Amino acid sequence: MTDAVPDALTAWRRLASAPASAVLLDGFHALKHALRFGAEVPVAVTGDRAAALALADELAPDVRERLAALLTEVPHATYASLVPRPHPTAVAALAVRPSRAANLRALSRTPRTAPVVVLDQPRNLGNAGAVIRLAAGFGATGVVTTGTLDPWHPTVVRGGAGLHFATAVERLDAGELPPGPVFALDPEGEDLRGVKLPDDAVLAFGSERSGLSAAVRARADHLLSLPMRPQVSSYNLATSVAMTLYHWSATGGGPHSS
Ligand SMILES: C[S@@+](CC[C@H](N)C(=O)[O-])C[C@H]1O[C@@H](n2cnc3c(N)ncnc32)[C@H](O)[C@@H]1O
Repeated sequence: MTDAVPDALTAWRRLASAPASAVLLDGFHALKHALRFGAEVPVAVTGDRAAALALADELAPDVRERLAALLTEVPHATYASLVPRPHPTAVAALAVRPSRAANLRALSRTPRTAPVVVLDQPRNLGNAGAVIRLAAGFGATGVVTTGTLDPWHPTVVRGGAGLHFATAVERLDAGELPPGPVFALDPEGEDLRGVKLPDDAVLAFGSERSGLSAAVRARADHLLSLPMRPQVSSYNLATSVAMTLYHWSATGGGPHSS
């Protein structure tokens, strides 16, 4: 064992002992995304450094040098002991969670060039992760959750593929939503296709089980529906967010490929 291995493991244990601020990046792609979007990553380990750097050469040459500097190879069993379930890429890292104050500043900044997505009392950790990945892809300002689900829960971070660092993710009370007109999505609303969503929109989606809460309904300036044929009750939460962000981008907003 070189000194690098005990040093990395000491750093890992120190960070992991503060779970409120350490974010597990599980797998090569999560680490790649986190680095691309400016995460502070004090420690990264791998069971196979050569394979990880070969992946970087192939898929992420932009962060290859940073990965080479960061990744410490540890015995595979050691790597496996640090994660809940070994990832096929045998890569894991710990990042520092962005401060709530910085996220709140990003969410409240005006004028805004891209919507904020609000998940009103979501229940499903996988849905929340998928929505954060969507928000990152469309360049949304952030994702706010209300209710008890922690949007930085390790399962949500896994579903978000390291993209929590590409958008501002925070939990807020329904009474503290960021500024901007609230467009709440509900099957009983006006057809979304006739509406242009402004860049400063707050796009609110209800919970998987019971839809929009009374508090968010009361804040809504507009109620919008996604096209859906009769007898279908509703769409999945994350697919609803995908359609709505796509509609925003297709009517003038969103990222433009260069
Ligand atoms: C699974 S649905 C909720 C279903 C729930 N049983 C209800 O009573 O609304 C989760 C969220 O996705 C959005 N959604 C799903 N289908 C929709 C549709 N056809 N039009 C607008 N929003 C929809 C809404 O925001 C909804 O609250």
